[in-house]
Amino acid sequence: MDFRLEIVVEYFPFFLKGAALTVGVSLAGIFIGMVLGLFIGLGKMIKFWPLRLPFIWYINFFRGTPLLVQLFLIHFAVMNLILEQPNTIASLVVTLSLNSAAYVAEIFRAGIKSLDKGQAEAAHSLGMNKFQVMRYVVLPQAFKRMIPPLGNEFIVLLKDSSLGAIIAAPELLYWGRAAVGQHYRVWEPYLTVAFIYLILTLSLTYLLNYIERRLDTE
Ligand code: ARG
Repeated sequence: MDFRLEIVVEYFPFFLKGAALTVGVSLAGIFIGMVLGLFIGLGKMIKFWPLRLPFIWYINFFRGTPLLVQLFLIHFAVMNLILEQPNTIASLVVTLSLNSAAYVAEIFRAGIKSLDKGQAEAAHSLGMNKFQVMRYVVLPQAFKRMIPPLGNEFIVLLKDSSLGAIIAAPELLYWGRAAVGQHYRVWEPYLTVAFIYLILTLSLTYLLNYIERRLDTE
């Protein structure tokens, strides 16, 4: 089998552009997902159950249906309804954000629940009110425990953003498919794309391991 390197060379600038978009939509997804997820996670902890229900069903829906189906629903149905000209990148960011919010909500809840009850009790007994206990005692410790799972969530988003290729959002895999379409060659584009994803996820994994080690020693 021959490997036509010139295809890789020709498409390399596009792969880089695609990789930049892949990282961009994933970053946007994790940030919006974190903000929404904190809110939904708090919502799920409301004591009065009827108020808790919408949050529970949000999480159920986004964790219990395929991401690809959510992407189709948001891009072809919801965005089509709201916008005159649906934008594939916007649809991808919205879908990744809403999806990761459901996972972040559980990460957040687990982070808070993992703390010993005595922490909050001790803070209460020192005269702190509910808000102060959350702000100064519970959340700083919970956030530290949330960093590793949030990093994993980011890696998941980075890989799953490749679903965007199916709605023609010009991320990394989209350009791989474009190269395949132009040259009728599958090995060169798809291997290169896989390799670029691998570089991205492995660098992130190393970075996360480093951060985890740093946090451990504190
Ligand atoms: N592969 C999963 C699906 O199709 C994606 C789940 C997204 N996971 C996440 N942690 N955001 O549903």
